Amino acid sequence: MEQRIDQILTQGKAEILAATTLDQVEDCRIAYLGRKGKLTEIFKEMGKADKEEKKVIGPAANRAKNTLEQLIEEKKNRVRAEELHRRLEQETIDVTEPGKEIKLGKKHPINLMIEKISGIFAAMGYSIAQGPHVESVYNAFDALNSPENHPSRDKTDTFYISKDTVLRPHTSSVQIRTLLDQEPPIKVISPGRCFRCDTPDATHSPMFHQVEGLLVDENVTMADLKGTLDQLAKELFGEKTQTKFRPHHFPFTEPSAEMDVSCFQCGGSGCRICKESGWIEILGCGMVHPNVLKVGGIDPEKYTGFAFGMGVERIAMLKYEIEDIRLFYENDMRFIEQFK
Ligand code: PHE
Repeated sequence: MEQRIDQILTQGKAEILAATTLDQVEDCRIAYLGRKGKLTEIFKEMGKADKEEKKVIGPAANRAKNTLEQLIEEKKNRVRAEELHRRLEQETIDVTEPGKEIKLGKKHPINLMIEKISGIFAAMGYSIAQGPHVESVYNAFDALNSPENHPSRDKTDTFYISKDTVLRPHTSSVQIRTLLDQEPPIKVISPGRCFRCDTPDATHSPMFHQVEGLLVDENVTMADLKGTLDQLAKELFGEKTQTKFRPHHFPFTEPSAEMDVSCFQCGGSGCRICKESGWIEILGCGMVHPNVLKVGGIDPEKYTGFAFGMGVERIAMLKYEIEDIRLFYENDMRFIEQFK
């Protein structure tokens, strides 16, 4: 039996030496040390041998086992190292290969439009005022002269965070913050996000953007309002653009109006964009209500002002002929890349 152990050892050594892949080394391990391996058989047979024999064969078999195990381990490590070396040689970096293209971002059309509108008002001397998206019911409604029963205050129209906190449904809440914060002459615009409980469809979104405007000074009249917004319309839609002010109602302005612009597509003769009317509604506006000035700590006998608010998405959709408001929020680069 001793002789067999020697044979197995010699044979095993030779096979392990000859192995060149991890699979081959593993095959050797199974052939000699596996459950039915040649050396394992010796151990099994040893159970039947007598005591004296065991004394001699036992240590010899164990030595053989240790030797083979060690050789297999060493061989595995060497093969792994060689494979790694080979891979690294094959995978050398080709420094002449062109680099990966880094895609440049584009400004979002909503931001482009806000920048355009802000630029027009900056040129007229307006500065930017800002307010939070999460706003008090007081700033969003009460201070803006909106009665308790006004439909826009309803839970079905406005997102309430608590009884007296809302996601602002318009940027008009910045009017109050500005009046409390500044002394006339006041001349600000305030672009930003607004939120209303609308189910998204082609023309509605629960989140959208407005640009608010507020001017308060001595002797401000409706003529100033019209002149200012007429200038805006011409810069946005072209020199030939006409404006029309239709009486309307907002709780925080009196008198109030909605401004239409002559259709920039057909010039007023009627087309698909203006729904054959020749006019397109652009914004709400009016003279700041005396109650609002009072809440803002400003004497309505001494000062008057005007305010306006426009939907950025609406203007961008008209100007860029975008048919579905949801496209603004999907952030598909193929959409965003189209605007300058
Ligand atoms: N806040 C009004 C709206 O969301 C717009 C508006 C602003 C009207 C300022 C008048 C003055 O519809």
